[in-house]
Amino acid sequence: MSETSDASTPAPVKRVRTRHFQQAKERGIRITGLTSYDYLTARIFDDAGVDFLLVGDSAGNTVFGHDTTLPVTIDELLPLTRAVAIAAKRAFVVADLPFGSYETGPDEALHTAFRFMKETGAHAVKLEGGVRSAEQIRRIVSAGIPVMAHIGFTPQSEHGLGGHMIQGRGDQVKQLLEDARAVQDAGAFAVVLEMVPADSAALVTQELRIPTIGVGAGPEVDGQLLVWTDWAGLTSGRIPRFVRKYADLHGILTEAVTAFRSDVESGTYPGPEHSYE
Ligand code: KIV
Repeated sequence: MSETSDASTPAPVKRVRTRHFQQAKERGIRITGLTSYDYLTARIFDDAGVDFLLVGDSAGNTVFGHDTTLPVTIDELLPLTRAVAIAAKRAFVVADLPFGSYETGPDEALHTAFRFMKETGAHAVKLEGGVRSAEQIRRIVSAGIPVMAHIGFTPQSEHGLGGHMIQGRGDQVKQLLEDARAVQDAGAFAVVLEMVPADSAALVTQELRIPTIGVGAGPEVDGQLLVWTDWAGLTSGRIPRFVRKYADLHGILTEAVTAFRSDVESGTYPGPEHSYE
């Protein structure tokens, strides 16, 4: 992403802001996003120019080892979000509101959003749901807090949806469009489309003024977001079909830790160069 200066030459973006998301959509520049849960990876992703970092409730799986995102709490996500916000010098940091922290209504949603904004340094919050979350989004936005919406497959509702099911296929596209319009009208600055057929995602992207961010939503969206441990080859177990594997960190770390153990057992580590005189 870049910004147009007075001389009409693109200037590098110092800090990504909501207006850059909008400009990216208008100029056809694709937005990149990754999840991040700690200071070290956030620094790497920020230095690499990733536009936004989502401290996702996927931390429930990737950090805390649960089967779903449902058990993760506000108190667990706050310190992770703070660490990412400290690390990110350019990237826009989005705090995910966990299951059970916003659904009862706009007051609860705003209270939770305040906590994340005050206690972490995040720049926006994300919450799941289209029409059903529109009033929550409206209230949070009216307090000056940017909201990234999330429709399609919403993992916090996985039991209600009957598992990891693609959403917005066939006739369901009407509901997807309704959800998309509802979050846009409520003031969301961007919307995540998760596990949606490529054609449906393309349709939503054409319909909306705000940018769409795809997670398993094909190429015709305004940006792409992935859970970083998936593409880096660190996640164990099932990896969604839409993930391209860019690294094998599981293999690299396994090899490294095996070498460390073997060196300790054989007495070749530490060597004199690792010892104080
Ligand atoms: O928590 C998360 O990582 C997410 C993305 C997958 C959209 O919500």
